[in-house]
Formats: sequence, structure tokens, C-alpha cells
Amino acid sequence: MKKIYNFILAAGMMLLAVSCQNEQTVTETVNEEPQINTTMEDLLTRRSIRQYTDEMPPMEVIEEICKAGTYAATGMNRQSPIIIAVTNREMRDRMSRLNAQVMGNDSDPFYGAPVVLVVLADKNVHTHVEDGSLVMGNLMLAAHAKGLGSCWIHRAKEVFESEEGKQILSELGIEGDYVGVGNCILGYVDGDYPEAKPRKENWVYWVK
Ligand SMILES: Cc1cc2nc3c(=O)[nH]c(=O)nc-3n(C[C@H](O)[C@H](O)[C@H](O)COP(=O)(O)O)c2cc1C
Repeated sequence: MKKIYNFILAAGMMLLAVSCQNEQTVTETVNEEPQINTTMEDLLTRRSIRQYTDEMPPMEVIEEICKAGTYAATGMNRQSPIIIAVTNREMRDRMSRLNAQVMGNDSDPFYGAPVVLVVLADKNVHTHVEDGSLVMGNLMLAAHAKGLGSCWIHRAKEVFESEEGKQILSELGIEGDYVGVGNCILGYVDGDYPEAKPRKENWVYWVK
């Protein structure tokens, strides 16, 4: 009787060992699959684009990019920024002209991009610059994730401090103390996609 009992016990343990081994094999097989983290990929591969085709991206895509902007973190969730989404050629050219005026030239600082998302933020909120900058970051990353090129174009502050800049806000019915943070230009990339410049030394100081 004892012999039979020992035999059953040994057989049971063998079965258990085999099943554990199989489980491990399954886990290992899953882990062998390359896990593509698209967020990480997008963070590392987004680049500033300075050459665009004339093609207007679909409105739904621009809306989704704007939505990503509205989900940026903001200090105390005050949501101080606003976005002026410009797909109108006349307004886009007007803003480009004002931007170039700040630099004292007549170039197109928007590099021919058909869309400009202007980020402004309420200066009464003490985190407005940080809030607006994060919105800019979200917009650029969302554009990249959606297959569009983008670039932060500066001088929004000066443009919306100017008389004509204020006039634009008034024409659009935007009231309040808004400061220009940045212009996120969007469009389809024309030509080769730029490579990232090497990262500087000593970016990160570890304290382990
Ligand atoms: C605050 C800020 C202002 C910028 N202003 C301009 C600009 O006016 N014109 C421009 O071509 N690029 C502008 N850029 C883009 C930078 O030149 C670009 O991010 C930098 O060269 C690194 O390249 P990358 O974005 O491809 O990594 C700006 C970027 C930031 C963050």
C-alpha cells in the first residue's frame, strides 16, 4: 500500500514540475517578444521640422492634436492656456508676417507650414509659462504620433503684445490677460526627416 502511495506522490510531483516548466516557457516566450512602447518611441524620434508640403492635414487630425494639448498637466489644474488653431491661410500669413516683423525681416518663420496652433496663457496664473510650454510639448508629440511634422516657433509673446496682435485677439472675441507662449506649426514633412543632434555630456546627475 505504501509503495502505491509513494508511486502516486512521485507521479504527481513530476506532473507539477512539467506544468511549472511549461508555464515558465510561456512567460519567457511572451517576454522574448519585442515590446514596442510607442510613447517612448515618439519621445525619442520627434524632431523639429522646417520644410512642409502645402497639403492641409485632415481637420479631425488637427482636432485630435489640439485635444492632446488640452490634456497637458497644468499648475493646480488651473488650465491657464488657450490654443488658437489657425487653418485659415489669410490669418496664418498675417501671424507669420507679425512674427517676422519681430525679427525685423520679411521671411516666413512658419516655414510654409499650413497650420499654426498658437498657445497663449492667462498671465494671472503664476504657472502660465510652464502650463503653456507643456501644452506646446503635447502638441508637438501628438503631431508626431499622428504622422505630422511640427516645430515650436518663438516670438508669440512679442506678437500678442503688439497692437495688431491684440487686435487679432479682439477680432476672435478672446478676452482676458493672455500672453503668447509659442506657435506650434504643423503639416506634412517635405524631404528627409532630420536626425537628432547628439545629446550633451552631463545631462543627468545621478544620486543613487
Ligand atoms: C522655446 C523654444 C523656441 C523655439 N523657437 C524656434 C524658432 O523660432 N524657430 C525654429 O526654427 N525653431 C525653434 N525652436 C526649435 C528648436 O530649435 C529645436 O527644438 C532644437 O533645435 C532641437 O531640435 P529638435 O526639436 O529637432 O530636437 C524652438 C524650440 C523651443 C523649445
